[in-house]
Amino acid sequence: MDIVELDPTAFTDYLARHEEKGLLRFLTCGSVDDGKSTLIGRLLYDTKLLFEDQLASLERDSVKHGTVGEDIDFALLVDGLEAEREQGITIDVAYRFFATDKRKFIVADTPGHEQYTRNMATGASNADVAILLVDARKGILTQTRRHSFIASLLGIRHVVVAVNKIDLVGYSEEIFDRIVADYREFAVDLGFQTLQPIPLSARFGDNVTGRGENLSWYDGPTLLEHLETLDVSQERTSLPFRFPVQWVNRPNLDFRGYSGTIAGGRVSVGDEVAVAMSGRTSTVKAISTFDGERASAIAGEAVTLVLSDEVDISRGDVIAAAGARPEVTDQFAAHLIWMHDDALIPGRPYLFKIGAKSVAGSVTEIKHAIDVNTFQHLAAKSLELNAVAVVNVSLREPVAFDPYSENPQTGGFIVIDRLSNLTVGAGMIDFGLRRATNIHWQAVDLTKRLRGEAMGQRPAVLWFTGLSGAGKSTVANLVEKKLFALGKHTYLLDGDNVRHGLNRDLGFTEVDRVENIRRVAETARLFVDAGLIVLASFISPFRSERQMARELFDPGEFVEIFVDTPLRVAESRDPKGLYKRAREGSIKNFTGIDSPYEAPESPELQLAGGMNAAETLADQVVAYLKAHHYID
Ligand code: ADX
Repeated sequence: MDIVELDPTAFTDYLARHEEKGLLRFLTCGSVDDGKSTLIGRLLYDTKLLFEDQLASLERDSVKHGTVGEDIDFALLVDGLEAEREQGITIDVAYRFFATDKRKFIVADTPGHEQYTRNMATGASNADVAILLVDARKGILTQTRRHSFIASLLGIRHVVVAVNKIDLVGYSEEIFDRIVADYREFAVDLGFQTLQPIPLSARFGDNVTGRGENLSWYDGPTLLEHLETLDVSQERTSLPFRFPVQWVNRPNLDFRGYSGTIAGGRVSVGDEVAVAMSGRTSTVKAISTFDGERASAIAGEAVTLVLSDEVDISRGDVIAAAGARPEVTDQFAAHLIWMHDDALIPGRPYLFKIGAKSVAGSVTEIKHAIDVNTFQHLAAKSLELNAVAVVNVSLREPVAFDPYSENPQTGGFIVIDRLSNLTVGAGMIDFGLRRATNIHWQAVDLTKRLRGEAMGQRPAVLWFTGLSGAGKSTVANLVEKKLFALGKHTYLLDGDNVRHGLNRDLGFTEVDRVENIRRVAETARLFVDAGLIVLASFISPFRSERQMARELFDPGEFVEIFVDTPLRVAESRDPKGLYKRAREGSIKNFTGIDSPYEAPESPELQLAGGMNAAETLADQVVAYLKAHHYID
């Protein structure tokens, strides 16, 4: 008998391959009428995964509802589960599991209602295959194109064009051929690796798991055969090694390991690795997993790495192959799918989560939106729910990434709303933008502190926010005069005035207001850097932009002053007659009337605007500045 020496690397590899081959994740796309539920129900039924009692009740219901005569209505099964789900848990995607002798399957079933992109993107983010359901009577529809486009964007490389309800067109080979030809023509540029058309009838079972006599002209695989044999063992293991550090594991002083899931390639003890951000290199000393030490590990495995040297690595860093490092950038171009009812607005701050790292940033530019139906480029100033666009993103800190096309794990990101914590978008990095990397912050010797000291003050911005007519500018003006009298150095930035120059190109749409505040905040920052006490008087109605402004400054430098005057009072004052015109409808987007004002939750100072004279309010501000040592 031969004694075979197992190379440990090969063995892990084999095991992993086996694992991968053992599991197929797929996604079904189509609207309810296309027979999606029936198809999934049929797959579950035929692979005998249904529990007996579920089956019994299904047969009963089918007879009762009688939509398909004596046969079982499989749609009832899935739709039933759906209804159950809708009552309780609020997830958008249902995962169903089933297995055959050859493979295990996870189906992501995404409801076909309006928020389809969000659901689909969620379901598709891990899928190997997308099954696009096409109604044989209707052919390729907008919906099919949309789904295909998103599937392709999300990196799905295998599609099945399931031409369903073929029984309703007399099992016609010609109709099938025509639909397939249509689809191929549309999908040429979507980069799918395999495209398998299958004529089927989910209702009668033809070509789902078994072959139907009616489709004798078709000699391809049945849906299940195809799903069982399709080779999706991706090249993920042959990519360069990528390891986003989820956490630094330091149970005692003698041990420091980095834990996470390998996002690309493989790693072995002795490999030379580099920290993406700092470029520091080391070698892998040990690889531990849940079930002990290993000589190597591959993409998809959760491990803890121990390195030979003490290198500075923190959560969110990426450990990578020393010879093939990821790019590092704070600006990149990306495709973005917007998933929220509140539109994306350039300049508005969001959190971007890339790998294990979350960084604040914003979309600096919408290059164009894409009509997912025709692929046409559309001009856009903001992105509404379900929009797809090409954008530039700018982050506060650099991140390590690979283009999404090279590695979806390290090139994909999600966008999180900072106030609600909701996922509002998903994106795919196309490439890093290099234009800003050769500009460095010029160190100057005269610091803000020195300048402030020379003027006998602590530089800061007093950010007055409140409704139009609240009294912001009146109070700010008085405060400035008082500070001037005390020999302080100030500058007043006022909404109306700035809109005559720097911001004369901006109106009052949400998009323009965000940009207004961004520019003003940057300007205020320069003046604070010059050592001044800056008074900024802007309605600045949105919390997220005031937050963005605050974050431009050092702690303690941003003093938010809420001039809290009730709308009723501000409107009765109506110093410029604008409320009247807004009520008449001749001014649009007027704050408090047809555009919201989001009151500050914890301002440094809140002034009861309706009840006090401006003089009193100004004194309160000066008192605050003294009490907090901005001035003495
Ligand atoms: S902000 O919302 O972008 O912060 P900003 O403070 O610069 O507004 O400008 C507000 C001033 O513009 C108001 O005091 C008012 O005189 C004038 N204005 C003209 N149209 C509008 C509008 N639709 N909404 C609010 N203010 C308006």
